[in-house]
Amino acid sequence: METKANETVAGGQKPKYDGKPIIGKEFDGIEELNNPVPPWLMWLWYASIIFSAMYFVYYHVYQIGDLQEAEYQKQMAAASAGIEESRENAGQPELVLLTSEEDLDAGETIFKEKLCATCHGQLGEGNAIGPNLTDKYWLHGGTIADVYEVIKEGVPAKGMTPYKDQLSSEKILQVASYILERLQGSNPPNAKEPQGEAVE
Ligand code: HEC
Repeated sequence: METKANETVAGGQKPKYDGKPIIGKEFDGIEELNNPVPPWLMWLWYASIIFSAMYFVYYHVYQIGDLQEAEYQKQMAAASAGIEESRENAGQPELVLLTSEEDLDAGETIFKEKLCATCHGQLGEGNAIGPNLTDKYWLHGGTIADVYEVIKEGVPAKGMTPYKDQLSSEKILQVASYILERLQGSNPPNAKEPQGEAVE
């Protein structure tokens, strides 16, 4: 059965076509079905308007949040800080006292080859320049980590050379262990007077 467009429905109901509501405007005999946007889609749309208003206030009016450019810069800075740190720690051995004869002999060789003796004496007894390394008194602390750090970074202001560019971490650890294991407590003749704090 053919249904006539714009059939007038009795009883004050809205006009329908094929049982579907029509808008009721006609143009050249063409009419438009009234197909409202489903409510869920409307709510999504309202929500996106509310969201964009809040976004605008948050990012552009009060500038509380970082825009992508600033966020990018922050992430890049954090990333390069991470790279810097891992580069610094690369190859850094765990700072534990080495006690094997092999390591301590290697430490002794380094002590002689690197001319530590010029400033600390042949036996580590200290001289006019450098402090005694055989007593239990330390200017920069007497743990393996302290001694390692002093040799690595030096004390340029006081005349102690930094060795980080000349010695690998492993070698610094060997010479530091040599000082603590063999020189410390060796009571050499002509020892320089104690300097710094006693470390038991
Ligand atoms: C040019 C002289 C010089 C040379 C070379 C030198 N040192 Fe030193 N060293 C010093 C001086 C000076 C100090 C004291 C720094 C201070 O007063 O803070 C020192 C301090 C130290 C300390 C810390 C002592 C403490 O009481 O805390 C250690 C450990 C040390 N040197 C080890 C070495 C080793 C190992 C070498 C060789 C690889 C070496 N030094 C080479 C001058 C030197």
